[in-house]
Amino acid sequence: MSAELWESVDQYFAGKLLGHDPVFDALSATCEMAGLPSIQVTPTQGRFLEILARISGARRILELGTLGGYSTVWLARALPNDGTLVTLELDPHHAEVARANFARAGLADRITLRVGPALASLKALLAEGVEPFDFIFLDADKDNYPAYLPAILALSKPGTVLVADNVVRDGAVIEPENDDPAVRGVRAFLDLVAADPCLEATALQTVGGKGYDGFALIRVTAHGWV
Ligand code: SAH
Ligand code: DHB
Ligand code: MG
Repeated sequence: MSAELWESVDQYFAGKLLGHDPVFDALSATCEMAGLPSIQVTPTQGRFLEILARISGARRILELGTLGGYSTVWLARALPNDGTLVTLELDPHHAEVARANFARAGLADRITLRVGPALASLKALLAEGVEPFDFIFLDADKDNYPAYLPAILALSKPGTVLVADNVVRDGAVIEPENDDPAVRGVRAFLDLVAADPCLEATALQTVGGKGYDGFALIRVTAHGWV
């Protein structure tokens, strides 16, 4: 089995099941023209996130790591009319591209983008006493995943669903000696999740247009130290 085959099957599923959407064509073109790295979720993964958010009945969604807003738009589509999505991005250039994309997708009124280090934005949200989020997509810098977890949980409630991207990294996740900070971060994050009696979790490996990676799927079962 080859990466080319995974990619072909991914394209087959996307063509068969997702339909064609000019909003995403325009969004991808904008990101490419602006020179953003092409590391967004794939179309099939975007639809997967949308369906998960819809199944969870999310009215309030939080995203860490906006990039050009590709995953953001998929997630925002799962919201009811009065729903909100807050997305956190460090890079002002990424944020500017994303803002333009939200406007073009007609979703600017539902999406709030906060520019700055995600940890600082999470602390600001906590200090502002915002309502807890129903669905959280963790996709910012992987080395900080362990630092994000307590802040994320403080913004959660029982039933909150947390999806963390890039937990496999071509299988590097099982290498205890790997010194890539992203791999170490994901492993430390999974250690924290596993040790927390208030969380139930699994992880799924994925192949397709973005190679070999995976998602962790976590549900808050009870309130912990919050
Ligand atoms: N969720 C996007 C992809 C995000 S890529 C999608 O699938 O469409 C990861 C993003 O996290 C990048 O845009 C990067 O600038 C941002 N990032 C990196 N470090 C960050 C930090 N400390 N706080 C917030 N965002 C950060
Ligand atoms: C990278 C980040 C991501 O969120 C992703 O899905 C793939 C790659 C990266 O920083 O290389
Ligand atoms: Mg990712």
